[in-house]
Amino acid sequence: MIADIADRLGDVPAYVYDLAALDAHAARIRAAMRGIEVYYAVKANPDPAILRTLAPYVDGFEVSSGGEFDHVSALFPGSRLAFGGPGKTAADLARRPYRFHVESPRELDLLQGDVLLRLNLKAEVDGAALAMSGPFGMDPEMVAACREKPGNARIAGVHAHLASGLDAPALTGLAETIVDHALPGEEVCVGGGMAVDYADPGRTFDWESYGEGLRGLGRDVMRIEPGRAMTAYCGWYLTKVLDVKRVHGELFAVLTGGTHHLRTPVTKGHDQPFTVFGPGGPEEEVTLVGQLCTPKDVFARRVKAALRPGDVVAFAMAGAYAYNISHHDFLMHPKPEFHYVSGMP
Ligand SMILES: Cc1ncc(COP(=O)(O)O)c(C=O)c1O
Repeated sequence: MIADIADRLGDVPAYVYDLAALDAHAARIRAAMRGIEVYYAVKANPDPAILRTLAPYVDGFEVSSGGEFDHVSALFPGSRLAFGGPGKTAADLARRPYRFHVESPRELDLLQGDVLLRLNLKAEVDGAALAMSGPFGMDPEMVAACREKPGNARIAGVHAHLASGLDAPALTGLAETIVDHALPGEEVCVGGGMAVDYADPGRTFDWESYGEGLRGLGRDVMRIEPGRAMTAYCGWYLTKVLDVKRVHGELFAVLTGGTHHLRTPVTKGHDQPFTVFGPGGPEEEVTLVGQLCTPKDVFARRVKAALRPGDVVAFAMAGAYAYNISHHDFLMHPKPEFHYVSGMP
């Protein structure tokens, strides 16, 4: 249990993954997505225990580098992999995934096997946390040129990942637009991007209505590649309060570890939600920072909490784009411990 790990926590922070919660969450997604293929986007969290927990509930994995391809192939030989991402090297293109996501006509020229053409559409994505515009994929003119000259590849369909942080109606609308660019009988992969609300963790993505919306588009093979909304909830990052002080009127709690272990609040610009294990007391407005020598090392700004040295702070929603996107080696602090448990409070 998380409380036992908090009790024993020393000066080295710990990641705790609740695999039972992840199992239940993945089962719910699988049921809601009946008739839809689900490929987990490994970039969200490639931890082997996480991948093993998800494996029974997914049809395959989306990988975005040769490293991810090799990692997942070693764990699940023969599994279905969709290999995407811009800037593939010759060694990447020589690999043999179930599907390549083609980023450019040049890439298509160099490829063999079954491919999906990655679309870059100027779609309306109001409310998106991140719009994947810029260099990703191809505009409709480039896609048309690829269809005329497929070279040694077989074009199996189209792929797009247009934005992240969207709710089910917005993603269903984008999926309709993507489907309009597919030929009859082609596979359609509409990417990930399901919203996660860090300010209100209880407000989760409506998988049921998204599944219904996607089935309503009537394609034989429809695929999604969720990352964040699959694994964000199962991870916790536990740190200890080292110091509490007021500087120029602002109260700071300095914690072990930092954003070199949990960069998510900095990259997303949010306050990471947390629970405190300690005696409690009157709450004050406090900014939670780590051990790094940079003012950007902030987990949460001016939030209400009762914190004193020795208390343990357990940051929630640290299961996706958390440890694996962080700059671990900056300042050479120790790496965190990792614990895998079944059952949290
Ligand atoms: C091509 C592609 N597919 C899927 C994902 C997963 O997106 P999310 O974690 O928002 O669900 C990403 C994330 O960047 C992506 O680039």
